[in-house]
Amino acid sequence: MTTCLGLESTAHTLSAGVVDDAGSILGVASDTYVPDEGGLHPLKTSIHHVDCFQSVVERALGQAGTALAGIDVVAFSQGPGLGPCLRVGASVARALATFLGVPIVGVNHCVAHVEIGRLACKVDDPLTLYVSGGNTIVSAFDCGRYQVFGETLDIALGNMLDAFAREAGLRHPGGPKVEALARQSVTYVDLPYTVKGMDLALSGLLTSAVNALPGHPIADVAFSLQETSFSMVAEVTERALAHTEKREVLLTGGVAANGRLQEMIRLVSEGHGATFHAVPRALAGDNGAMIAWTGMLQFKQSGGIPVEDTGIIPRWRLDQVPITWRS
Ligand code: ATP
Ligand code: FE2
Repeated sequence: MTTCLGLESTAHTLSAGVVDDAGSILGVASDTYVPDEGGLHPLKTSIHHVDCFQSVVERALGQAGTALAGIDVVAFSQGPGLGPCLRVGASVARALATFLGVPIVGVNHCVAHVEIGRLACKVDDPLTLYVSGGNTIVSAFDCGRYQVFGETLDIALGNMLDAFAREAGLRHPGGPKVEALARQSVTYVDLPYTVKGMDLALSGLLTSAVNALPGHPIADVAFSLQETSFSMVAEVTERALAHTEKREVLLTGGVAANGRLQEMIRLVSEGHGATFHAVPRALAGDNGAMIAWTGMLQFKQSGGIPVEDTGIIPRWRLDQVPITWRS
């Protein structure tokens, strides 16, 4: 049995996961930075990660019932993400791999959201809607890559929900709070719907929703914001599904935890005869297990990478990564 320790540090969460080569998640532990006010400050977030990495790694190893010496491969999220945060994970990974004398693997965070969904939902070749704080991407495997069929032209869906919540005086992360508010209303406030070809834009919608706040109950605006933005991603997903004719749809990333979004994407999927799968809540947000598992897939296919190649890649698109372990 080969075990991989994965480190996630692209944004708010420092997380460690341990998996084996059969795809069992043996341990996963996380510590999420929550700012007192406002959004994520990269430097402050990275200091949080430095302070907690040791206890997070120890907890993940403890759950897995293994000592550091039992780890065969170290994987880390190499990008995309916030530079100072990525640097913490990369430094810890380099130190551990060098100390243990084991291979190191750099993982693309977006690929990891897809791979953990494929593993956890037992799906083989899905059309994927990946929605999180930093990404809004409709993608499917084709010609050796996770090709992007549609994406946001400005801000990400999770970021949009977080920014709206912040303007409404709610603390980060706003997504779950907007969902709870939206459940209290069925009154639709008119908001702009912007789909351009296969892409969508969310910043105008955010501005309109914030501007609607003084005149309307917050639950009505939250409801309308969800209905509008989720319909937009559902439309793009539906068209990509009709085009690619995939038989499975996978919803992944932090916003995949949203019950209303799941309901909408399920309808779209089943309307096209495809099965619908949402990544389990515990694995929907950023976590070390997804990095460990993707690192394991990469390692099994192509081994480790030289330490000289472990520099962070803050802007690293999903479709730039060769998916060598799939045919
Ligand atoms: P990435 O780096 O992949 O873009 P991320 O760093 O934002 O991701 P994730 O943990 O994947 O991290 O996603 C966090 C986002 O998910 C936040 O924007 C948060 O508000 C959102 N989110 C979490 N739960 C819900 C929910 N129930 N409804 C809507 N959004 C949610
Ligand atoms: Fe993420």
